[in-house]
Amino acid sequence: MLVKKLTLKNFRNYEEETFEFQDGLNILTGKNAQGKTNCAEAVFYLCTGSSLRIRHDRQLIRSGETSAYIGAAAESRYGGVTLEASIFENRRELRVNGNKVARTVDFLGNMRSVFFSPGELRLIQDGPDERRRFLNLSISQTSRDYASALLRYNRILDQRNNLLKEHDVQTVLETLPVWDEQLAHYAARIAAKRRDYLADLSAYAGEAHAFLTEGQETLVLSPDRETRGSEEEIAEKLKKELARNYERDLRLGFTSVGPHRDDIKIALNGTDARGFCSQGQARTAALAMKLAEVEIFTKLSGETPVLILDDVMSELDLPRRKKLLARVRGLQCILTCTHAERVLYKEACNKIRIHGGKIVP
Ligand SMILES: Nc1ncnc2c1ncn2[C@@H]1O[C@H](COP(=O)(O)OP(=O)(O)O)[C@@H](O)[C@H]1O
Ligand SMILES: [Mg+2]
Repeated sequence: MLVKKLTLKNFRNYEEETFEFQDGLNILTGKNAQGKTNCAEAVFYLCTGSSLRIRHDRQLIRSGETSAYIGAAAESRYGGVTLEASIFENRRELRVNGNKVARTVDFLGNMRSVFFSPGELRLIQDGPDERRRFLNLSISQTSRDYASALLRYNRILDQRNNLLKEHDVQTVLETLPVWDEQLAHYAARIAAKRRDYLADLSAYAGEAHAFLTEGQETLVLSPDRETRGSEEEIAEKLKKELARNYERDLRLGFTSVGPHRDDIKIALNGTDARGFCSQGQARTAALAMKLAEVEIFTKLSGETPVLILDDVMSELDLPRRKKLLARVRGLQCILTCTHAERVLYKEACNKIRIHGGKIVP
């Protein structure tokens, strides 16, 4: 998969700009706050319909404007594809090859990317939210079934949570089983997919981690809640668990069990790394997870994803930086760094300098 051209209009600090990318290494340089990450974020948005930095799409619209546009021309093994997103204050329009797509899930997976930035340390060090977000965005890029199950699940969950806030307890208790039936159905699909995905991710991440640490440390990822059996079995089990928690859920006013609460267990050298490991260890573990994502996308789609390395090289020591560059050779890579750091990359590559939301010729 190659992203060849990226056009931004009123996106973040860009008024209008078009980037031409090559196969292999593309380096975006510039001082701080010039638009390097914004450009990388736009590519990721076209892959996932989201960004790791936002809660609301409207943050992407250039201040003072009412809409933003991101468009890309990409090349897959099936031929060329254009992807476009027009983002308005309260809605968006997504297009594939010029045709408007009604459902977000039909937009996903046309282009895939793996995003790695210093913020990804949160994957290891922060609470479960970050890890769930990672899983959801990652699996959604390879499985529309997962993306649509997640969408439905969240909708039903919202409705169930609203119901829990009702005052007429008798009605609530009578209605809950109806919601739980549907909720458990989609929850089971999500849980089963996550379980399978994590098994793959753990195998690849363990291998990448051994490569990065020269076999000094081990990394194992797993769901933090046991999810054995078929989807039907998982659904049955969850329904019982939901029923057991009626009283608590009523008291809390929200649903306390389900995939929206689950986490990934991260074992580093056999001990839980979440919240405990050093900065350096967290960085290496997060990088291993991202490299594993690259492998999984390649395995599932037969195509390498676009790898985005945002501001991470300066954080790695020289041996690891070299290892990483050797490992990603052959991938299309969009790498951001400060202008001073550009000299680190002597090999032939596409260097683009950005200043104030504009490419410097
Ligand atoms: N919606 C927006 N409208 C206008 N400017 C924005 C918007 N969002 C972010 N910016 C600006 O973009 C700049 C940061 O760009 P970024 O790509 O993160 O920088 P860097 O080059 O350091 O990676 C900041 O100056 C910020 O104010
Ligand atoms: Mg940046």
